[in-house]
Parts: sequence; C-alpha cells; structure tokens
Amino acid sequence: MNIQQLNIQAKTAISLFLMFIIVATISSVILLGLELTGEKKGINIPTVSQIQNKYTTPELVASMNGSMYEHVADDGDIIIVDRWIKNGAKKDDKDYPDVAEIISLDCADCHSKSSKMSKAIPSMPFETFDEIKKHTEAGYSWSKMSKQAHIHMFGIAMFLITLTLIFSYTTYKDNIKTTLIWTSYGGAFLDIFSWWFSKFFTGLVYMIYVMGGVMVSSILLMSLLILINLWKKEA
Ligand code: HEC
Repeated sequence: MNIQQLNIQAKTAISLFLMFIIVATISSVILLGLELTGEKKGINIPTVSQIQNKYTTPELVASMNGSMYEHVADDGDIIIVDRWIKNGAKKDDKDYPDVAEIISLDCADCHSKSSKMSKAIPSMPFETFDEIKKHTEAGYSWSKMSKQAHIHMFGIAMFLITLTLIFSYTTYKDNIKTTLIWTSYGGAFLDIFSWWFSKFFTGLVYMIYVMGGVMVSSILLMSLLILINLWKKEA
C-alpha cells in the first residue's frame, strides 16, 4: 500500500493538511525571528548572540535587548539594569533606585495592573521590587522551560506522527524515509533539550540554532516530498 493508491478526496485532504503544516512552520520561523531580533516584519534569521540573549540572559535584560528595545530610552539603561542583576538584584543595591526609575519611566506605563494604555500588559506588572525581581532570573526559569517544553512536545508530536506516518507510505527508498523520520523527531527533541540546558552550558545555544534548523527543514522537506509523491502519476 502507498499513498498514490488513495482516492482523490484523500489526496486532497492530505495536500491541504500539508499546506497548513508548511504555512504553520514558516509562521513559527517568522515569529521566532521577530521575537529574537526585535524587528517588526519579515523573516529574520537571528544571530547566535541574539539566541544567547534569549536563552541565557535574565528576562528583563533580554527583553530590553530584544522585543522591548523600542521602549528603552537610552542604551545605558540596559547596562545599569544588567549590572544590578549581575550584582544579585538586591533592593539595597546602589543601582536599585536607578533601575526602579528606568523601569517606571520606560516600562511601567504598560507593565502595570492599572494601565489604561491600549497595548498594556496588566498581567506582568513591574511596579514593586518583588514584581521586578521575578524577571531577573538567568535565562528561562524551570517553570517557563517546562511549560514551553510540554506545550511544544505535545504539539509537535501530534502533527509529526501524522506527517511521518503519511511519509512512511510514500514510494521513496526506505533509508530516505527512516533518516528523515529520525531527523525530525531527533531535531525537535534536541532543540528543546538544549533550551533547557543552555543556561548552564552556554555552548548549547549553537545546538538550539542548528537543531531548530534541522527540525524545520526536515518538516518542510517531508511535506514537499509527500506532495510530489502524492500527485505523481503511477508508473
Ligand atoms: C507600549 C507598552 C509596553 C511598554 C512601554 C513595554 N512593554 Fe513589555 N510588553 C508589552 C506587551 C503587550 C507584552 C506582551 C506581548 C509582547 O511580547 O509583545 C510585553 C512583554 C514583555 C516581556 C515578556 C517577554 C517578551 O520579551 O515578550 C518582558 C520581559 C517585557 N515586556 C519587559 C519590558 C521592559 C523591560 C520594558 C521597558 C524597557 C517594557 N517591557 C516596556 C507592552 C509593553
């Protein structure tokens, strides 16, 4: 049995499914690029240092260098916040009054429970020391990591099982099929695994970069190969 024997309706359904997968995969690349580079449009390939910034630096500093950069009044503000966090993010630190002022001026218009701004985020207030302190942990906190990992792994597994099962019934050579199936799951697993540990082993950010690329390309490649195989005239 192979997918070329399916009826036209099944072929149509699979093709539409694959087009959704392709668009979703490209969207995830766009989204990640925007988040990591702080750009507003287009497909942006982040640099290793931008990835490092997201996964190994405290959230507050990472956001000031990345997605929240447009709200930072002066680059010097980031240096002060970074120095305060490196010194332990304490309330009695000599930098804290400056940090509190920077956050209050640059950020608290939106990051406030009572903000009336249209783009506000009342769920992430930066009004008290404790609220600010929460975002000073290096890289992804364990809770954020496990949240991201389980959402990603459930989500990815759901569509990968569908994609790889369809792919396994194409007429390509067995070793091509086996390799791509292992690559897609392996890439996804190592990508997530490396987010988790990059805060302890900085070198692993390269693995996030490489494995993210491997995962995305194997998904796109399998989808395209299925589409070609599906509509090829039977020999
Ligand atoms: C114009 C309103 C606005 C201002 C000003 C603002 N933020 Fe945000 N911020 C948001 C919104 C909305 C989100 C959630 C969605 C998003 O990421 O765009 C957010 C998300 C965040 C996040 C979550 C992770 C992330 O990077 O998306 C952090 C951390 C953050 N902001 C820090 C800051 C800091 C630090 C400042 C000051 C330099 C700041 N924000 C200024 C609206 C704002």
